Amino acid sequence: MIATDISAPMVEVAQRALAASPSVSVRVTDAVSTGLPDGSADAVVMVNLLHIVPDAAAVLAEARRLLRPGGVLTIADATAEGLSVRQMLASIWRYLPRWGLKTHQKGQQNLTQTSLEALVRTAGFESIEGHPLTGQVMNCAFVRAVKPA
Ligand SMILES: C[S@@+](CC[C@H](N)C(=O)[O-])C[C@H]1O[C@@H](n2cnc3c(N)ncnc32)[C@H](O)[C@@H]1O
Repeated sequence: MIATDISAPMVEVAQRALAASPSVSVRVTDAVSTGLPDGSADAVVMVNLLHIVPDAAAVLAEARRLLRPGGVLTIADATAEGLSVRQMLASIWRYLPRWGLKTHQKGQQNLTQTSLEALVRTAGFESIEGHPLTGQVMNCAFVRAVKPA
């Protein structure tokens, strides 16, 4: 298994957390251009990535290239969709001190369940299944899809 992030500090955190899991290789890698071989993955999992990248379609195209035919893509991505006013305020309280007002920079987007499914469909995946996941502070859009054989 290969775990990736473009940020060296994030990779160091993951390396520490996964120190007891020798089968996981943790690497600094751009999700748009991983350098891994075509069709080399049975599964690609993205957590809280697509809303933050400037070009979500390019990340999905790279995932499609990496997957073998019939390989499975799983995405969970934070969304404000469906949050109550109380949860919205709790979320602002939690994230504003950490991230300031630097949200929604160029290309960043608040994905919804519908827009995430549309992105995945446009990227050429099929058998798209999904449903929103609800949390105490944030919700997630969740999609599972298959690269056509
Ligand atoms: C909201 S954080 C989520 C981190 C982690 N996946 C999680 O769920 O806890 C978004 C992460 O995406 C990473 N990231 C941003 N652009 C990226 C890219 N082009 N390729 C790979 N990782 C990227 C950032 O470094 C950051 O760690």
